[in-house]
Amino acid sequence: MSPSGLTIWLTGLSGAGKSTIAGLLAEALRARGRRVEILDGDVVRTHLSKGLGFSREDRDTNVLRIGWVCEVLTRHGVIAIAAVISPYRATRDEVRRRIGRFVEVFVDAPLEVCIERDVKGLYKKALAGEIAAFTGVSDPYEPPLAPELTLHTAQETPEQSVARILAYLEEHEWIAPATTLVTEVSV
Ligand code: ADX
Repeated sequence: MSPSGLTIWLTGLSGAGKSTIAGLLAEALRARGRRVEILDGDVVRTHLSKGLGFSREDRDTNVLRIGWVCEVLTRHGVIAIAAVISPYRATRDEVRRRIGRFVEVFVDAPLEVCIERDVKGLYKKALAGEIAAFTGVSDPYEPPLAPELTLHTAQETPEQSVARILAYLEEHEWIAPATTLVTEVSV
């Protein structure tokens, strides 16, 4: 029997590390023989959510669309990894209800750290008032109240964060434990 799918939902501020962690996590899960798909907000906004902006309504539409794709993938035995700010708690909870097999991971980094990282240079613009309604600066982010896991990316490396997700998934039997190859050594 093929393994059951699930959705791993990475939520957090822009620059918190969601995409990096999603990439490494996908690699690790594929190495274990699992089928994996990443739904990254930045990427999805170039096709499925093309044309959507950052009003509450548009963000919710984006998150619900991503949630729907994750739901379908999960139903078909895939591990869907969403890397999307998804700032509104109620919308994340709705996606959780619809999917069922859902692990919410709060990718937590202080705003000051995200501003310092400013990988895309967007915080600089947002702070200068050149981008309106920027999450964490001039638009809300509602942190999860009871995520399955919280990652503190200012204090741990992406590799450590991924190891923590894998350990959680194994411990709670979302995935099978990694099989270690035991080779016989003749002396
Ligand atoms: S969400 O709010 O709808 O969940 P999503 O994760 O898809 O957001 O997209 C966030 C990305 O869009 C950010 O990482 C950033 O690169 C870009 N972006 C552009 N404008 C904004 C904005 N006003 N607020 C947040 N992110 C923005």
